[in-house]
Amino acid sequence: MCGIVGFIGAEEAGPILLDGLSRLEYRGYDSAGLAIYGAGQGLQVVKAKGRLKVLSDLTQGGAAIHGSVGLGHTRWATHGEPSDVNSHPQVSGDGRFAVVHNGIIENYVEIKEFLERKGVRFVSQTDTEVVAQLLEYYYTGDLLGAVSKVLHRIDGAYAFGIICADCPDKLVAVRKDSPLILGHGEGFNLLASDVTAVIKYTREVSYLDDGEVAVLTTDGVQVYDAYLQPTEKELCHVDWEISAAEKGGYEHFMAKEIMEQPEAFRKTVFPRLKDGRVVLDDLHFDQAYLRGMDKLYVIACGSSYHVGMAAKYNLEKLLRKPVEVTLASEFRYCDPIVTENTLTLVISQSGETIDTLAAMREARRLGARVLSVVNVVGSTIARESDDVIYTWAGPEIAVATTKAYSTQLAVTYLVGLYFADLLGTISPEEYEAVVSELLLLPTKLEAVLEQRERIQYMASLYFNHPSIFFIGRNLDYAVGLEGSLKLKEISYIHSEAYAAGELKHGTISLIEPGTLVVALASYTPLFEKLMSNVVEVKSRGADVLGLTVESRGDDMAKTVDHTIRVPDTHPMLLPSLDVLPLQLFAYYVALQRGCDIDKPRNLAKSVTVE
Ligand code: M6R
Repeated sequence: MCGIVGFIGAEEAGPILLDGLSRLEYRGYDSAGLAIYGAGQGLQVVKAKGRLKVLSDLTQGGAAIHGSVGLGHTRWATHGEPSDVNSHPQVSGDGRFAVVHNGIIENYVEIKEFLERKGVRFVSQTDTEVVAQLLEYYYTGDLLGAVSKVLHRIDGAYAFGIICADCPDKLVAVRKDSPLILGHGEGFNLLASDVTAVIKYTREVSYLDDGEVAVLTTDGVQVYDAYLQPTEKELCHVDWEISAAEKGGYEHFMAKEIMEQPEAFRKTVFPRLKDGRVVLDDLHFDQAYLRGMDKLYVIACGSSYHVGMAAKYNLEKLLRKPVEVTLASEFRYCDPIVTENTLTLVISQSGETIDTLAAMREARRLGARVLSVVNVVGSTIARESDDVIYTWAGPEIAVATTKAYSTQLAVTYLVGLYFADLLGTISPEEYEAVVSELLLLPTKLEAVLEQRERIQYMASLYFNHPSIFFIGRNLDYAVGLEGSLKLKEISYIHSEAYAAGELKHGTISLIEPGTLVVALASYTPLFEKLMSNVVEVKSRGADVLGLTVESRGDDMAKTVDHTIRVPDTHPMLLPSLDVLPLQLFAYYVALQRGCDIDKPRNLAKSVTVE
C-alpha cells in the first residue's frame, strides 16, 4: 500500500527519488520521507506528514539533500498514525540503518519487547522501526548477514529498501508477499514498488520473488535466494510509454482513465478475436477438463469482485456450470469446498492484493487450478497462476478503478465464449451474435461517454444528497454494486446497492421523500419487474435516476425523474455500457463536493495488507 523507491548511481538521488515517489503517491499518501547518503554528510533523513508536496517543499524538490544513493517512501499508515516520526524511512538508534517498508511485520510487538529488554529505545509506533533496530542489533560488519538474520526473525509481509551508512555503495532490496521491482540502468540502478517509478529512467526491469534479496550498486545488481546463494533474474522490457502514467491534460487520472475505456477495451479484446472466433493463445484448457469441472470459483476483492458478480450471471448461463463468487478475504477462512476439478478465476488489477493472493494460494493448496485475470504484467498473482490472461488497460493510477474494471469485464466475456465453445453449450448463432457485438462495443462506449455533460448536470442536482441507493436485477444488480462503490469511495456519500427485489425486505424503510435511487433497467428481460420496484420507491417519494437501453428509454422516462440511455447490445455485454454513466456520475459528484478524486481518504491503490 505504500510506495518505495531507491536509487544508486552518479547523479543526485534527491530529485530522482521525489520524481519516483510522485508516480507512486497513489499507493499511499499520508506522509513521505527520504534517506540519502552523501559523502561527508553521512545518512540524511527528512520526513514529513502530509502529501508529497510537503516533503518536496522542505527539500527543494530533493535538491537540498546531497548524495547519489538513497531511498524514498510514501506511506499509507498501518501501525502508528500518520506523523513525521512514524513516516519512513525508519532509522536505527545508532543512525546506521535506514529502512523503508511496505507491508506488516506481524510479530513486531514481541521483537520490540525483546529489544527493549536489551535497552533499545523506540521513537515511533511503527512495526518498521523494529526492522531498523534489529538490523543494528545483528550487525557486526556484515550487511547481508544482518539482513538475513532479520529475515529469519520476522513474520509477515514485506518489501524493504535498506541503506547502511557503513556501506554507502550499496542498496539492499528484500521482498516477501509485497511487490518490489528492480530497474536496471547504465551506471545506475533502482528499486521500486511499481514500474511507474522507474520507467522514466529505464525500461529494463526484473521482479524480485518472495524470499529474494538484491544488492544494488552503481554498476550492477546481484540477487540472492533465501539462503543467500546468488541467483539469476530474467530481465523484462516494459514497453508502455511514460505518458500512459501521466494525466495528459485531464484534471484527474480518473477522468483520463474513464475516457480511455473504449481504447482499453479495443486493446484487450480485438487482438483476441480472429475471423469471428475468440482466440486465447495464453490458455491451455481442453474440453475434457471443462467437462469434468465441478465448479468455477471466482475470487476477488472490491471492484474486481463486482466483475466476478457480473461474470457469474453470464458464465452460468453460457456454461451451465455452477459459478460461486466469493470475496477473497472470506475465502481463506470459510473452509471452501474446492476439489481438483474446481477452476478458480482470480481477478485482480494489481495482481498484488494480499487477500486475493492468499486466497489463490489456498485454492491451489486445495488442488484447484487457477486462471487469473490481471492487469500488471509480472505481478505475483500472474506469476503464480496456472494460466493468466492480461487485461491490456495500461497503467491505472487513480485509486478508483475504471478502465481495469472494464477490461476485466471484457476478459470474462472472452473466457465465457471460449469455454462455452469448447463445451458446446453455445449455439453458433449466439456465438456469432456476441462476437459481432463485441466488435461494435468500443464505438458504443464512446457514444455513452459523449453524454458526460448531461451526467455532470445530474450530478449537480444530487451531489449533496446524504445517501444514494442503487437498484437493479441480474446483471444490472452487479453493475449497481460497482456504481455504488465508485460513488462512496470518491465522494464519501453513503450509498448502498440492492438487488431490486430485495429492497422491500427491509431497506425500503430508508426511502423517504427526496431520497435518490439510481435504478438500472437495461437488462430488458427483467425490465417490467424492475419498473415495479421503481414504482415502489417513487410512491414513497424517491427521486429516481433511471438507466436503461435506448429501446426502453421512453418507457422508463414515463416513471422516473431523469433517464440515461445506453445503446442496445447483446444482454451479456450490458455491464460494459452501464458502468460508464455510473463512473461519470461518481466522478462529477465528487468533483462538485471538492473531493480529492484520485487519492480518496483512507484508501490506497494496491492493498497489500490483510
Ligand atoms: O488490484 P485489485 O483488483 O486486486 O484490487 C481490488 C480492490 O482493492 C479494488 O478493486 C478497489 O475496490 C478499488 N478501489 C475500487 O475502485
